[in-house]
Amino acid sequence: MKRLHRHLAAAFFIASGFAALVPTGTHAQDASPVVEYRKGLMDALRIHMGGVTAATAGTAPIGHAEYHAVAFERMAQALANVFPEGSGGPGSRALPAIWENRGDFMDKVTAIQMAAARLVTASRTGDAEQIGSAAQAVRATCGACHNPYRAPAN
Ligand code: HEC
Repeated sequence: MKRLHRHLAAAFFIASGFAALVPTGTHAQDASPVVEYRKGLMDALRIHMGGVTAATAGTAPIGHAEYHAVAFERMAQALANVFPEGSGGPGSRALPAIWENRGDFMDKVTAIQMAAARLVTASRTGDAEQIGSAAQAVRATCGACHNPYRAPAN
């Protein structure tokens, strides 16, 4: 996969069963719908972490930590299925290493899911300190995946 050209990667992507999700008129420069969806999911992770932080900081009611933690956990579960083989390419910062080291990548997905489950449990204590430390553990899982598997921003 690693040396495939972008259009070849796109062809592979279509062959891998996601053709129905790719509109035929898509511009070569545009990110595919799967990439757009995945980015939206990542933004949701970021936003719900922000919600947890607001709750622990007293900006929002402490009870909101649970709402965000639960939503976050669901989004983390969705992560497992949004990196179909070869879905890098235009508009995406996903590195080919994702598909070269699939096992390790999936370990990173599991790590965020487990940290998210602990965040949900912590959020139900209503204790800002416990929630804050569980949130810190979640944040570590973002970087652990971004460092090896996400290209730097341009
Ligand atoms: C298992 C790997 C993995 C984990 C865990 C992960 N990310 Fe990502 N993230 C990626 C990859 C890969 C991309 C690049 C996706 C693309 O451009 O196709 C990305 C992109 C992003 C983006 C940019 C989205 C955009 O609009 O371009 C944000 C924001 C982000 N991640 C936030 C987070 C936060 C916050 C966490 C933790 C709470 C997190 N991610 C956890 C792999 C991960």
